[in-house]
Amino acid sequence: MEHITVVGMGNMGKAFARRAASQGFYVFWWNRTREKVRDVPGTPISKLADAKGLVVVFVADDKALFDVLPEVGGDYVALSGTYSVDGVRRSVEMLAARGRKSFAMPVVGSPRNVEAGDAIYIVGAPDDVYTKLRFTLERFGVLFHVGDSVKAAALKLAYNSLLISTVAVLGESLSLASKYGVKPDVFRELLSHTVFKDFAARYIDRMLGGGTPTFTIRNAAKDMRYASLAAGEAEAGNVAISGVKALYELLTAMGYGDEDYVKAGVLAGRK
Ligand SMILES: NC(=O)c1ccc[n+]([C@@H]2O[C@H](COP(=O)([O-])OP(=O)(O)OC[C@H]3O[C@@H](n4cnc5c(N)ncnc54)[C@H](OP(=O)(O)O)[C@@H]3O)[C@@H](O)[C@H]2O)c1
Repeated sequence: MEHITVVGMGNMGKAFARRAASQGFYVFWWNRTREKVRDVPGTPISKLADAKGLVVVFVADDKALFDVLPEVGGDYVALSGTYSVDGVRRSVEMLAARGRKSFAMPVVGSPRNVEAGDAIYIVGAPDDVYTKLRFTLERFGVLFHVGDSVKAAALKLAYNSLLISTVAVLGESLSLASKYGVKPDVFRELLSHTVFKDFAARYIDRMLGGGTPTFTIRNAAKDMRYASLAAGEAEAGNVAISGVKALYELLTAMGYGDEDYVKAGVLAGRK
């Protein structure tokens, strides 16, 4: 599989296109707003039907997915954004009805991980498709094969619920301590003696600092909404998940949607 087409050239799509080019693939890409995309390798295509080879879809959400999939060409379609379980199920069915092979392949990791080739890909492809594509996919990162698109989508939402919720509570805990005069360094020092050592070392500075976000509060709200929907449909526990969903949705409605998702708890503590 020498041709890769990336559909949706936001933060993740651009990183994937760069990785594909660095691995020697012929790269094609499509973006709804072509003029937004600069400094990426590969050839832009103007029609989704012209997609070639393995088509990796990184559009934002379910709505975007259903806007692009009816037209998309190529040999295999990998759904690599974070979508709802029901959206993935319906997408795979819709493409199968058109005789197209598709599967969920959500990503654990940031655009930086994708470009560096150390992101984790949760691969929902059935065994026969996985066997065909494995050699190609291994050049993009760590493969975690679950063999079923619905399971892959659910696993990604379960992981993101854990990460997004933990980051939010760490931020609120930091705010709580700080309202009583405890400095962030003191809080971090305490955590360095506990199970939260690595987590605090990785996220506290980022919560308090600046920089351009690569994953936003708006996107995290979307993931928590899909996680809450999936938990509700399956009658799984949904109290903490729906609480964190409400926090990210509230912050988005308050105008913080473009902020780094790790700042949620700190922003909530500012009110
Ligand atoms: N960033 C991360 O760290 C990360 C990590 C893992 C998974 N993800 C998931 O990966 C996906 C992409 O994330 P991202 O960070 O790359 O987002 P992003 O930078 O906001 O890019 C979103 C992309 O979706 C396109 N899009 C939005 N609505 C569309 C529509 N109706 N029709 C066609 N295209 C549409 C945008 O096109 P325009 O340029 O035309 O607006 C853009 O290419 C999301 O599902 C996200 O949750 C992100």
